[in-house]
Amino acid sequence: MSIASRERTTVPLATDGPWTVDLPPEGGIGAQVRGLDPRRVDATLAARLLELVYEHKLVVFRDVSLAAPDYIEFARRFGTPQIYFQPNYHHPQHPEIFVSSNVLENGVKVGVAGTGRYWHTDYQFFDDPLPLTMLQPIRLPRTRRETMYIDMQRMWRTLPAELRAKLADRKAVHEAKWRYKIQPTDIDKSITEILAEFGRETPPVRHPSVLRHPVSARELLYVSEGFTVGLDGCGYEEGKAVLAAVFEFRHRPEHVHVHTWNEGDVLLWDNRQLMHRAGDTAKGEQSTSWRIGIYDGLPFYTNRPDGARPAAPPVIPGHGHPSSC
Ligand SMILES: [Fe+2]
Repeated sequence: MSIASRERTTVPLATDGPWTVDLPPEGGIGAQVRGLDPRRVDATLAARLLELVYEHKLVVFRDVSLAAPDYIEFARRFGTPQIYFQPNYHHPQHPEIFVSSNVLENGVKVGVAGTGRYWHTDYQFFDDPLPLTMLQPIRLPRTRRETMYIDMQRMWRTLPAELRAKLADRKAVHEAKWRYKIQPTDIDKSITEILAEFGRETPPVRHPSVLRHPVSARELLYVSEGFTVGLDGCGYEEGKAVLAAVFEFRHRPEHVHVHTWNEGDVLLWDNRQLMHRAGDTAKGEQSTSWRIGIYDGLPFYTNRPDGARPAAPPVIPGHGHPSSC
């Protein structure tokens, strides 16, 4: 039985208002909030909604449709909206909105088409990854539009022991250059130049392969097919082989939660706890969605007691880092 098809329970949101929350079954992903007007969310209610996000990893707000200013204001209830580092993704009037679209607006290209169609977590390739992502579709294909999620707490708990042993207490290396999308300004540059330029702007970063969540203290597997390119202390081939085995296990259909989009859905999820990937858009269909990345003011992980990002492992003079894993 899929995660999505098990029985849900409905509970009040425990704050005054006409809204209700459907909770997922034990171990499932995603609470659903109905009857909420996002323009009337005060600090108390926002804090309660954030609790739902941290507990159930994903919240679906049903029957919501927000113009850009209200959408940004709703995101601000949960933290600080991000301005994405590449301006070609920006909404023309509202840079907080990252536009994924294959539709010309008055003959002009807006945003970028075909984003995120691989397993990843947003901004994993930066020192400060995105804690939260909010997503609102503006145009849904007439056929089907889906976003898929995998629960990283469950994956770490159920990963085969030999793979857990390879990843525990080890940092992983992440970079985005292999996902870079060519822009008009790249014409006449060689692929080598483009990769070198982008690599200077976004050099590889390291994060623990297993994160500790700042709110729940849960342990979470934090490597992705999209951005993780190696494991510290492993040779190139061995690191790739370990990651391939992890992904083969993790991406099995029984581990995947599918959100099928309906008109009026707005999603908010925890990037520490979920990997995601966008579904394909059928040929000839139009699709536009608005993403807002949100910094929730908490450290991304608390692998050290002081909450700081773990320092690079010490190098013993004359020994260097281990060469195999
Ligand atoms: Fe994404």
